[in-house]
Amino acid sequence: MHKVIVIFGTRPEAIKLAPIILKLKTISNELSTIVCVTAQHREMLDQVLNIFEIEPDYDLNIMKDNQSLFDITVEGLRKLERVLKKEKPNIILVQGDTTTTFLASLAGYYLKIKIGHVEAGLRTKDKFNPFPEEMNRRLTDCLADLYFAPTKRAKENLLKEGVDENKIFITGNTVIDALLMVVEKQKNKEIQKMLEQKFCSNYRISFDNRKIILVTGHRRESFGKELENICLGLKKIAKNNYDIQIIYPVHLNPNVQKPVRKILSNIDNIHLIEPLDYFSFVWLMNKSYLILTDSGGIQEEAPSLGKPILVMRNKTERPEGIEAGTAKLVGTDSEKIYSETMRLLENKTLYEKMAKAINPYGDGKASDRITNILRNYLAHN
Ligand code: UD1
Ligand code: UDP
Repeated sequence: MHKVIVIFGTRPEAIKLAPIILKLKTISNELSTIVCVTAQHREMLDQVLNIFEIEPDYDLNIMKDNQSLFDITVEGLRKLERVLKKEKPNIILVQGDTTTTFLASLAGYYLKIKIGHVEAGLRTKDKFNPFPEEMNRRLTDCLADLYFAPTKRAKENLLKEGVDENKIFITGNTVIDALLMVVEKQKNKEIQKMLEQKFCSNYRISFDNRKIILVTGHRRESFGKELENICLGLKKIAKNNYDIQIIYPVHLNPNVQKPVRKILSNIDNIHLIEPLDYFSFVWLMNKSYLILTDSGGIQEEAPSLGKPILVMRNKTERPEGIEAGTAKLVGTDSEKIYSETMRLLENKTLYEKMAKAINPYGDGKASDRITNILRNYLAHN
């Protein structure tokens, strides 16, 4: 029987690979699926594994506090060598653009194992923006054999780089599959009530008639001044609008925790909370009026929930949302973040226009398509 090994390490990879893993497990009579986590993230990865009830076959447990890119790459590569030599899979499945994605592809290449890249072809064409993700995905695409491009644009990027068209499949993004799975479960009124109570008891957040602005921010290229500017913009929004609440689940990276807590603690209408499990986070996105973020995945999810999104980055590899009108790139300048947020709070027509745009990233069936393509590919290669 052919064997697929799915390798990942961080929260977003886990969310986006979970629907594929669950699908692959339903055809275990045809294809053997091994799950290996580098655990480049620990708590934030485990949150996702729990929600989707996925138990890894291998857990390389590499995360260290405030780890460097060298730490992740060296530790991960060494440990993966042993797993891959033991398992001898027919194909490795990786996702996205993290350092785990790249190092797993490199390990596969060294051992001449085929590589399938989920979410292939995203580009900003600026090698330091986002850093190191832009190079992680380009390098992964150099090494891959099978490309699951989420959009037409992603496929075009790959074609321009000379990738063989027969190896590229437009599938949509699996994050929409994950999102819809969770949204479906949350239609239940009891579950909604339970989630609301959880926010109230765990974080002392009450959902009254104040609008919620949901915030996330964690990008390496923004560490230092730019992240401080983002925080100053948020502070001004909160101070000038007592009829809103800002909720910011703060990423565990110490380079994020320190400035965020320094600038934004002790402001009445700002709640700094721990990273949320995916189930709670999706519910909170749904409850929000507006989302301010630098996250890749959230840019893809927000349009499905009808939430306008301000992207606090200078460049994005996800231009489709901006072209569709659901997202706006606002950079990291505090005044710009403030003024663009005010526009959406004050101008209902503008808000409605952004909230009604269609999601360009997928229809919730990406993991079906990927599973079928993989099955077919392995039968013929
Ligand atoms: C990583 C990815 C980034 C992705 C992001 C998603 C790289 C280089 N970066 O960035 O592409 O967008 O994940 O969130 O691949 N930490 C914990 N517990 C956790 C997770 C992180 O304590 O569960 C802390 C640790 O101190 C760790 C640090 O955060 O050393 C940084 O983690 P790392 O994976 O290197 O970088 P991220 O900023 O999380
Ligand atoms: N997310 C989550 N809990 C949080 C914040 C985000 O589950 O507290 C989810 C979010 O819905 C999205 C993914 O995590 O699916 C995005 O991860 P992140 O922002 O860490 O990484 P990126 O997408 O920028 O690589």
